Amino acid sequence: MEKYDLSFKNAPDIRTELPGPKSLEMLKEQDKYETNTRVYTDIFKLAVKRASGSTIEDMDGNIFIDWFAGISVLNLGHNNPIVIKAMKDQLEKLVHINEVPSEARIEFMKTLNSVLPVEMKNRSKVMFTVTGADACEAAVSLARYVSKKKTMVVFGGAYHGVAGEIVGATANYHYRDYAELSPTNIYHLPFPYSYRFPIKVPEEDISKAVVDQLEYLIKDPQAGPGAIGGVMVEPVQGEGGYIVPPDDFLPMLREVTEKYSVPLIFDEIQSGMGRTGKIWASEHYGVSPDIMCISKSVGGGIPTSMIAYRSDYDMQLPKGFHLGTYRANPVALAAGTAILNYLKNTDILERVSSKGQYIMKRLNEIQDSSRYIGEVRGKGFMIGAELVKGRKTREPSQEMANMVKSYLYRHGVLMLTCGHFGNVMRYIAPLTIEDELIDKGLSIFEDAVKELEHIY
Ligand SMILES: Cc1ncc(COP(=O)(O)O)c(C=O)c1O
Repeated sequence: MEKYDLSFKNAPDIRTELPGPKSLEMLKEQDKYETNTRVYTDIFKLAVKRASGSTIEDMDGNIFIDWFAGISVLNLGHNNPIVIKAMKDQLEKLVHINEVPSEARIEFMKTLNSVLPVEMKNRSKVMFTVTGADACEAAVSLARYVSKKKTMVVFGGAYHGVAGEIVGATANYHYRDYAELSPTNIYHLPFPYSYRFPIKVPEEDISKAVVDQLEYLIKDPQAGPGAIGGVMVEPVQGEGGYIVPPDDFLPMLREVTEKYSVPLIFDEIQSGMGRTGKIWASEHYGVSPDIMCISKSVGGGIPTSMIAYRSDYDMQLPKGFHLGTYRANPVALAAGTAILNYLKNTDILERVSSKGQYIMKRLNEIQDSSRYIGEVRGKGFMIGAELVKGRKTREPSQEMANMVKSYLYRHGVLMLTCGHFGNVMRYIAPLTIEDELIDKGLSIFEDAVKELEHIY
């Protein structure tokens, strides 16, 4: 694989008090003008000057290791020359156009088709959207439209975006029919989260417990929630805590949804684009969905998203089924083609798998000497370490997670948390991160855990 060494040298390099004086000034300016509802500026108190590879330089010359990759938007790192070149070339040609074909659009769709999960290849259509939430909305509307049933089954801990409902204000009722998703049309089943599964069954029966419940909801008209028009799942759950389901879960889900012709949606927005060591996380389990949501890294930093879905569904859809002015930005699609080709044609995915295992092994070693790491889990570069007050009680510790996060920031590593209780440290670095920056980050993580070992 080419180009592993894009990061600034000597990272991390913290030269000032944090935040540094220039960062502080800009953070204050931002406060004056921008909404107070921001979240990330409470976690990473810095103003950014530039970024490259897996490093970010703040306005005061401090250099941080980036272990969050814009929440998996930058899977090939910041300013990757391959991505930047594709964007620049496209900028010279065309920046926006509505729906009519352009080279960028056609090339992207061909490339995407070539990497789709096996059952979807050459049998899928693409519908462009703009954000992750937008793609999930399109997927849900599509599932409900083709099934002619309105209730969606999703999972505890799921994150499919924060949007929607505005369609209710749009006057043309054709747009509202299957898009308007009221809370009464949603049913949450527990995700097979073995560390905190709410039903007392042996660990090997967790998938069955969930899928049996799903089958009951689908086949029994008096089960309660309403006719099930689709199931949406993250193949590896993201915001819910980087939870890898048991190996039999997705195949069982596929089997039961196929049996009852219920559309199955995989939300690969966070787990896709090489994040888990395969282009799509579902490939680990050998199953293909009917509809797949794609976003984040596919635009290389420019907002874009899409769903890929069974072409036989397409016959049934009316014109203007799901709309949006900014769909299929050509610059984003040119980047997407370059990124997909890179994932497809280099050995980056093998590296992500083997390095991911190495990181898990190191985290397991750190766990062995810590009372507060309850579980380490993950696939590829989607790795979670769940922090608890004690390994026996498994009581979640958001406090500990926040302290680790803050220690890491002060020592130059930017890492986010997730999980039902905000207590899971998540490793989500660019897939191109240099070995050295993995090791430096891990030893700072180890120091953080050691220093906090006696807080309870
Ligand atoms: C799995 C998944 N689906 C959907 C979304 C929503 O994407 P967006 O924030 O672009 O709306 C996210 C965002 O993190 C996500 O992780």
